[in-house]
Amino acid sequence: MKVLVTGGLGFIGSNFVRYLLDEYSDVEVINLDAMKYGSNPANLRDLEDERYTFIKGDISDYELMAELVKDVDAIVNFAAETHVDRSISNPYSFLQSNVIGVFTILEAIRKNNPDVRLVHISTDEVYGDILEGSFKEEDRLKPSSPYSASKAAADMFVLAYVRTYGINASITRCTNNYGPYQFPEKLIPKTIIRASMNLKVPIYGTGKNVRDWIYVLDHCEAVDLVMRVGEKGEIYNISSGEEKTNLEVVKTILNLMGKDDSLIEFVEDRPGHDLRYSLDSTKIREELGWKPKHSFEEGIRETVEWYLKNEWWWKPLADERTLHPTPWKLRW
Ligand SMILES: NC(=O)c1ccc[n+]([C@@H]2O[C@H](COP(=O)([O-])OP(=O)(O)OC[C@H]3O[C@@H](n4cnc5c(N)ncnc54)[C@H](O)[C@@H]3O)[C@@H](O)[C@H]2O)c1
Repeated sequence: MKVLVTGGLGFIGSNFVRYLLDEYSDVEVINLDAMKYGSNPANLRDLEDERYTFIKGDISDYELMAELVKDVDAIVNFAAETHVDRSISNPYSFLQSNVIGVFTILEAIRKNNPDVRLVHISTDEVYGDILEGSFKEEDRLKPSSPYSASKAAADMFVLAYVRTYGINASITRCTNNYGPYQFPEKLIPKTIIRASMNLKVPIYGTGKNVRDWIYVLDHCEAVDLVMRVGEKGEIYNISSGEEKTNLEVVKTILNLMGKDDSLIEFVEDRPGHDLRYSLDSTKIREELGWKPKHSFEEGIRETVEWYLKNEWWWKPLADERTLHPTPWKLRW
């Protein structure tokens, strides 16, 4: 099986590339990544496998996509601009990658290989926040940030292409991932890195915002399953059920690192900050037989250990802007 992974130099994409190559001997992977903000060649630098090819390129380049889709069995689209804070200060690139980019992939498929399998990676953020209960796949979308609005728009295009042109696509919507190779701008790596430098650890607002945290390899396994046996035109929510407030996450990390809670600094809240995300993932559990293998307790311990052992990986990325306490106030 030949799989085109887009955005494979990013956090989840690079974990997914490794996962596929580790898990299957008969898989070939082409990784297409535009090497934008958030990508890091170091994520896969050690990968020496003749089944793996890297191409630097943009998913919104139609000519390139038209060539690539002809020769693969499946496409898994992770490529996206992903940081909510940066989307608040400069939304344009989010439209370009997350909407035009996905539209270009769909056009390339429609015109060149309409039967190819496509898994489009979306997010829980498209539903917006929910104070009680959990969203199901058929619930309405109500994105709050330019990032989630661009992801929701892409989902609509994917579903429209299934309905109108019959392309073989499914969508996954996952909750917050954590684990190795996550860019230092995101909450968990930023907390570990700042704490390891004895810098104050910023928490937006009251710290009461709730996220459902999933270990990245559990997400990879779910995406692989959807790619192989997911139904055309279906959406699959992916969640672990490990709901934590940001304050709980930060305190757990500080505790694992032997650091004091006095490092915590409450800072101004992010504009439009969603209070709670929660997904009902019964469908993928019952229909495809997926369930997460890592508890938050194990996963977060492994993640803290990974960052502390792999300073060589994050050190070149950990500048003042990336670790900024209120990044949406910067110009990006
Ligand atoms: N991180 C999470 O917690 C999470 C949760 C749910 C869904 N997602 C989704 O998963 C996907 C991957 O997220 P991530 O956290 O790994 O992101 P990331 O920012 O670490 O990686 C994204 C990658 O996409 C590449 N990219 C961006 N625009 C591109 C373009 N136009 N053409 C080609 N490559 C491009 C970047 O260079 C980068 O390597 C995204 O679609 C995101 O919306 C992420």
